[in-house]
Amino acid sequence: MLLKLEGNNPAGSVKDRPALSMIRAAEERGHIKPGDTLIEATSGNTGIALAMAAAIRGYRIILIMPDNMSEERRQAMSAYGAELLGVPAGKMEMARDLAQQMQAEGKGIVLDQFSNQDNPAAHSGPGGTGEELWRDTGGRITHFVSSMGTTGTIMGTGRFLKSKNPDVQIIGLQPAEGAQIAGIRRWPKEYLPSIFDASGVDRTMDITQEEAEDTMRALACVEGVFAGVSSGGSVSAALRLSEELGDDAGATICAIVCDRGDRYLSTGCYSPALSRPRPAGVSDFWPAVRRLAGRGDVYVLFTAGADAERADGASWCPDCRRANGAIESVVRGTGKVLLVVDVGQRPEWKSPDHPLRLDPDVELTCVPTLAKWDGFAGPGGMRVSDRLGAEFDGLDPAECAHLVSAFVAKHG
Ligand SMILES: Cc1ncc(COP(=O)(O)O)c(C=O)c1O
Repeated sequence: MLLKLEGNNPAGSVKDRPALSMIRAAEERGHIKPGDTLIEATSGNTGIALAMAAAIRGYRIILIMPDNMSEERRQAMSAYGAELLGVPAGKMEMARDLAQQMQAEGKGIVLDQFSNQDNPAAHSGPGGTGEELWRDTGGRITHFVSSMGTTGTIMGTGRFLKSKNPDVQIIGLQPAEGAQIAGIRRWPKEYLPSIFDASGVDRTMDITQEEAEDTMRALACVEGVFAGVSSGGSVSAALRLSEELGDDAGATICAIVCDRGDRYLSTGCYSPALSRPRPAGVSDFWPAVRRLAGRGDVYVLFTAGADAERADGASWCPDCRRANGAIESVVRGTGKVLLVVDVGQRPEWKSPDHPLRLDPDVELTCVPTLAKWDGFAGPGGMRVSDRLGAEFDGLDPAECAHLVSAFVAKHG
């Protein structure tokens, strides 16, 4: 699985290419000239990219966007000199109507990213997103995954890839009912962007807000890729696909990371309490272990759950609070798989009938416990072969790290 980091473009998103492409092509056709006023409805990134391009080429620009767009986006547009108009939160259709109305009143020219073929052309043309993906994968790409807003990215990139290999599968994702993910939309039929052609998409997947945000946070703290919410959506779709296809499919799945996470900080989606990956619960434990069965080098950290009274979301167990950070960073730092399991709140854990105390393949008696998993006994096909538990009592984080390093080294 490969990610294309479009947040590394100059104005920070997948929209830099379409913004420049729409302005250049309109100039070449004599439709606009420097000094004119441009008007665009945008959920943010197109606005920032157009504001940059307008500043470079000498245009005045008015951007219309829903009020729930993040403060960073607004300020970035203003920084490039754009004027902003708001419509109520989530009302992208209203923003599009207002842009058209202002154009009809002679207040400026709408390039209209939703109907403008220069938008997908930025991804299908020379030097576009499709060509880069084809070149950088050496033609090995088998699946392309993109979230869908104007659908410019999926249409243009998909078109290019299919022209090289008609078997490349194009997968689009849209927000599930009720999800509000900046930049992507479940369009009502009458607002479907006219650049969209359903025959260019082999499959669509729905992504919930929670799945997109959880994947986005995991991307940052597990892979070091700091991205926005729609990118969490495309990566979670790619992960689902990868699981469906299995290791033997020989697939090369490429997903677009549309922009960077710093554009979303003020929304709180990266707050420290949320940013740690959530541990699996006891009921998720065996299904999770089953998915890992057959893989070597699997470790499991059994930890006491988050204390509901603590704002930082840390565990109610003082030994877990001291040891967990060291355990997680040492084990993950060696490239091993670490499954983190929350044994529950204090009263559940103290019960002698706790399912993990009773399970003969686990026999858990203390938290934190770091277990090495091996073998093929038990319902999950694995059992504990060695563990550290009481050894963590009273140690400081540096001592815990030392202990865990020796434990992992012992198991090769
Ligand atoms: C954050 C984000 N994700 C996804 C998209 C979707 O890209 P496209 O409009 O090319 O479908 C956009 C578009 O603005 C976006 O800003």
